[in-house]
Amino acid sequence: LILILDFGGQYNQLIARRVRECNVYCEVVPYKVSLEEIKEKNPKGIIFTGGPASVYGEKSPKCDEGIFALGIPVLGICYGGQLMAETLGGKVKAAEKREYGKTALNLNKDSALFKDIAQNSICWMSHTDFIERAPENFIITATTADCPVAAMENPEKKLYAVQFHPEVEHTASGKEMIKNFLYEVCDCEGTWTTENYIEEEIEAVKSMVGDKKVLCALSGGVDSSVAAVLIHKAIGDNLTCVFVDHGLLRKEEGDQVEEIFKNKFKMNFIRVNAKERFLGKLAGVSDPERKRKIIGEEFIRLFEEEARKLGEIDYLVQGTLYPDIIESGTETASVIKSHHNVGGLPEDMQFELIEPFKYLFKDEVRAVGTQLGLPEEVVWRQPFPGPGLAVRVLGEITEEKLHIVREADAIVREEIKKAGLDREIWQYFAVLPGIMSVGVMGDERTYAHTIGIRAITSSDAMTADWARIPFDVLERMSNRIVNEVQGVNRIVYDITSKPPSTVEWE
Ligand code: XMP
Repeated sequence: LILILDFGGQYNQLIARRVRECNVYCEVVPYKVSLEEIKEKNPKGIIFTGGPASVYGEKSPKCDEGIFALGIPVLGICYGGQLMAETLGGKVKAAEKREYGKTALNLNKDSALFKDIAQNSICWMSHTDFIERAPENFIITATTADCPVAAMENPEKKLYAVQFHPEVEHTASGKEMIKNFLYEVCDCEGTWTTENYIEEEIEAVKSMVGDKKVLCALSGGVDSSVAAVLIHKAIGDNLTCVFVDHGLLRKEEGDQVEEIFKNKFKMNFIRVNAKERFLGKLAGVSDPERKRKIIGEEFIRLFEEEARKLGEIDYLVQGTLYPDIIESGTETASVIKSHHNVGGLPEDMQFELIEPFKYLFKDEVRAVGTQLGLPEEVVWRQPFPGPGLAVRVLGEITEEKLHIVREADAIVREEIKKAGLDREIWQYFAVLPGIMSVGVMGDERTYAHTIGIRAITSSDAMTADWARIPFDVLERMSNRIVNEVQGVNRIVYDITSKPPSTVEWE
């Protein structure tokens, strides 16, 4: 077991994911965890996450200082590293300007952490404070142009700190660094696997549910689909899947979902057509958070209604993932958006939740899905947000805008698939920002909508880069959308990464 102390950083669960990729089980706990609890769990190593605070700030989150004396290896990342430095007698200071983005490291290769890693490796920086002076008995093991202590360690005490983020993909050898920490420093063995996870989860669901009835909120997306199959494996026909067509789905999506689960998997499957109800509730609403809340709440109300029709239902399955939970605001992280399947739940909800993937990341869920024998088209379906096209039509939603974005989106997807890019691009879709602009078509002045194309590469949607789609593919999309979708006269391509943007526009 590796324990990850959460100081509220935005990449905190990514660290967990990296650790699991090394086949090592880990748990994320609040930074306030007591020394007794740590001793009880007896981890082989501890990782401190980053966090938004400054270690010298009055209310900054601080862990029990006794941790450093337990003899358990500690790796502090960003804020976690600064906390280690400050606590043990070093000096942390605010930099004049924020160091942000890809940065070249100068590594000391004698460090166990950097074993077999190129000396001029690239890392991902995102910080304002920096370690100005390492504590006594610490060796500086990496520097950057702006950072006198990009990494430091006391190998005798097995204390390690890095200013950069090894957990983020943009740190070229980040995975190896984490692996080195786990295998070289903590002596982990790497026996945690997807197969074991499935077996344990099936057993856990069986014993939790018994022969009670379970309702699954099936969206057709990877998460809820894999969840449904997993739960179905555990409890068979005691599971009923309810698929709410909220009228905010992509082109022909509803029928495809019905085909797969009702006809192919032969599950108990109910489709609820509720477009009018959702659009009615959303009429006149333009605030993004409000829209999300309304949709989340309406969703649950519908399930309650379905449940009542079905008789006694005790549990609700949700395909909630780890990233959904962090971004909805843990005790320490700041809220970025209310995710449909967490923040939007009404407080008086009448089901207990089964969330088999709430500690898994997307690619882990895909691995589970493949293992469970789900077809590729489901396992590799691109993620689609619970609130659907509602967060891709900015501001107030109308049927006309929905129609435009849906048709444009279908073209974007078709062209990406035709170009053979659908696997390498994590998400690709159209948004309707609500910008009207002047154009000219066949000598006529037009005043019509703009469509934004968003396509990102990522492995978890926690961080993302905009996809370098070939110009000819963009050109085909642009031509087709303007020609085939009435009411559009301009196409723009979104070239922002996450952060600072998010994947969705709302
Ligand atoms: P953002 O826009 O927060 O999106 O960068 C990150 C990933 O999450 C998806 N997304 C959602 N998924 N319910 C979901 O199940 C939601 O409410 C929701 N909002 C965004 C988004 O498509 C991207 O993959």
